[in-house]
Order: sequence, then C-alpha cells, then structure tokens
Amino acid sequence: MNPDPTTSPSFWQQIPQPMIGLAPMDGVTDSAFRHIVALHGKPDLTFTEFTNVHDICSGRLKALDSLCYSEIQRPVIAQIYGKDPALFYQAAHVVCELGFDGLDINMGCPSKNVASSGSGAGLIRTPTLALELMTMAQKGIQDWAAGQTLAQAGLKTKALEAIAQLHHNHAVPRIRKPIPLSVKTRIGYDRNMIDDWSACLIQGKPAVISIHGRTLSQMYKGQSDWETIARAASLIQPHRILVLGNGDIRNLGEAATRIRESGVNGVLIGRGSLGNPWVFRGISHLRESLGIGTSYWESSHSPSLEETFKIMVEHASLFEQIHGSERFVRMRKHLGWYCSGFPHAAAMRAQLVRTHSTQDVENLITQYHTHNQQTQVTGLPTAIAAS
Ligand SMILES: Cc1cc2nc3c(=O)[nH]c(=O)nc-3n(C[C@H](O)[C@H](O)[C@H](O)COP(=O)(O)O)c2cc1C
Repeated sequence: MNPDPTTSPSFWQQIPQPMIGLAPMDGVTDSAFRHIVALHGKPDLTFTEFTNVHDICSGRLKALDSLCYSEIQRPVIAQIYGKDPALFYQAAHVVCELGFDGLDINMGCPSKNVASSGSGAGLIRTPTLALELMTMAQKGIQDWAAGQTLAQAGLKTKALEAIAQLHHNHAVPRIRKPIPLSVKTRIGYDRNMIDDWSACLIQGKPAVISIHGRTLSQMYKGQSDWETIARAASLIQPHRILVLGNGDIRNLGEAATRIRESGVNGVLIGRGSLGNPWVFRGISHLRESLGIGTSYWESSHSPSLEETFKIMVEHASLFEQIHGSERFVRMRKHLGWYCSGFPHAAAMRAQLVRTHSTQDVENLITQYHTHNQQTQVTGLPTAIAAS
C-alpha cells in the first residue's frame, strides 16, 4: 500500500525554512528561464507556468512545452489549471509520470479567459468544485502511485504519444510514490474572504497553500495585503499545512521582513526575478540571520555588466535549444528585462527586443562594447545610444 499523499512527509518537509521559491508566471517561467534561475540564483523551489488540464489530456504538444524541466530545477512543481474534475484526475497521472516533485493547482489566475470560465481564481466562487478538483487530483496521484498506467487512467493515444515525447527530456521516475499536492490562490474574489476560503482549502488537505495577497478584482493593482496573508497563516498552519506568502517582494531583504512580520513558512518571488535571476542569491545567509534574530542585511548580489551580458547570451542560447528558434520572439521580453542600470540601457533594450537569435544578441553586445570604447576615447555620443 502506498503512503497517503495527504499525510506522508514530502520534499516540502525537507526544505529548510523559511523557504524562498520562484513563483509561477505564464509566458515567463518556461524551462529556459527556470534553468537560468536555478543556475544563477538557486531558489529553494520552482514552479512551472500553469498548464491547462485539457491541453495535457488531449496531448497538445506545444502547450506541454511548459512541462519540460532540467534536473537542477528540482524541487520542481508542475502547476495546472482548469475546472473539469475528470481531467484533473488524468492530469495528475501525467504530472507524476513526468517525474515532477509536486503538483500545484492554480486557484489564483485573474485573467478573463481563465477566471470568467470558472478556472483559476474563478474557483474562489465555487468552493465545492475547488474541493472536488483537489480530491480528484489527490486520487489521481494515489492511483498512479499504486501502479495505474496513463492508458488505464483514460488518456488517449495522442496524449500518450505527446507524453512519451516529453520523456526524452527527463528521466521517468523508477519508484512510484505519491507526490504532494499544493494550491496557489488569492485572498478573495471581489473582497477579502480569507477566513471562509482558508476553511474550504484546509478541507482539501494540501501540503502547502501559497497566497498572493490580492483579490481577483484587484488583478495586480494596489499592494499585496500581507496582514491578510499573516491571518491566513495563523488559520492554516495549525492544520499542518505550510503557507507561502506572495506579492510585491523585490529582494531578499524585503523577503526577510515579510517572513518575520507575517509568520509564513516562506515566500514566492515572481516579478522581482524578471531580468534578475540572481535575486535568490544569499538565501542561506537570510535563513541564518532570521534564525539568530538579527535583521537581514542584504549584501549586494548584483552582477557586473559583463556577467549580465554573459547570462543574457546563455539564457538566449538555452531558450533556442529548448523552445526552438522559431519561438525566439518569446525570449525578447527577457532580454529587455536584463537591460537596466547601465549606460545606454534603454537604447540597448530597444534593439534587443527586435532580435531573432542568440547570434543577434551576441552581435549587439559586441557593438555595444565597440561603441562604448569609442565614446570613452572621443567623448562623442555612441551610435547605440543614438539609435
Ligand atoms: C506575467 C505573469 C504571469 C503569471 N502567471 C501565473 C501562473 O501561471 N500561475 C500562477 O499561479 N500565478 C501566475 N502569476 C502570478 C504570480 O505567480 C504572483 O502571484 C504575482 O505576480 C505576485 O507576485 P510578485 O509580486 O512577486 O510578482 C503571474 C504573474 C505575472 C506577472
């Protein structure tokens, strides 16, 4: 008999607390970015972008791109969304089969096409359905761990073929053991309803609940409400469920303050990592400083311009390898995010967001250096700055 995923200890219990993780971001935390963050920042845990359960179960290979990962990203948690319980049962099998460390259900996405159809943060309005999704995902995990195949779970040939193709990217787990379920959500739909919503989620017995301190209606406006996150932590933690707070943390100094003030078990950083994969550097130092009760004095982890450019090229090249040159357009925003805080950053950004390949990026960097050297010698404005 396999252990019950709702009660058995998992990787979550092995991560030292407070933990700092990379938040899921659709169109951002793809496999290439997660790899770069793991290499240069090393967060305690990493979430994939969310993937639609329908795409997983119908084998839409392009959408399954988000479920590629590399070993250094571990512990890596696959986030899924949707509203059909039967698909959550099947999708849980797929996530287990692909060797993820955890499965997370998105109950926080506010975007119109997700939430208005009743998925993502739309589930805050339908707590019974939210619970059913959790139950079916847990059941899928259990049945997979007990030996049930994907075909037996009802997945069709096209999905099986797509998943087999994904297996080329990473090892298939040899031991079938249940993985923990978690939920990422917001504090309410159109108003703060953390008490009722926490009580509902607790019934689903997830290992972890991550809370972004805004309502759905707020989208990304205003500020993340950390008092409500603290309240949620006090309601949820007595049920042996970990709570991760989220919202507006830009560096480890802010993370330390939020952790100390709210009593959460850790935090997730999202937008603070854009063009800033090294934001996670120094987590163990942060833990030590919190442990001895001193305030965290953030040491400077900003890399030099040379290092930034090097990481940029490494990121672009990895993106091409994993996601293909034809999708390089998706890499452009990352290149833009790397450009701040150095001379002529805005002009460099304007050119980088028009690149088509790593080679283009390398050429621009060479050009940048050439023009900058000329400026230093002549004192004249650079072509790059003028363009
Ligand atoms: C571009 C973008 C995409 C996002 N996609 C997801 C997602 O796929 N799943 C999810 O749970 N949250 C998603 N979020 C929300 C973030 O995980 C996080 O909750 C939010 O950005 C607040 O944290 P931050 O202030 O640290 O960015 C997304 C946010 C952004 C900005």
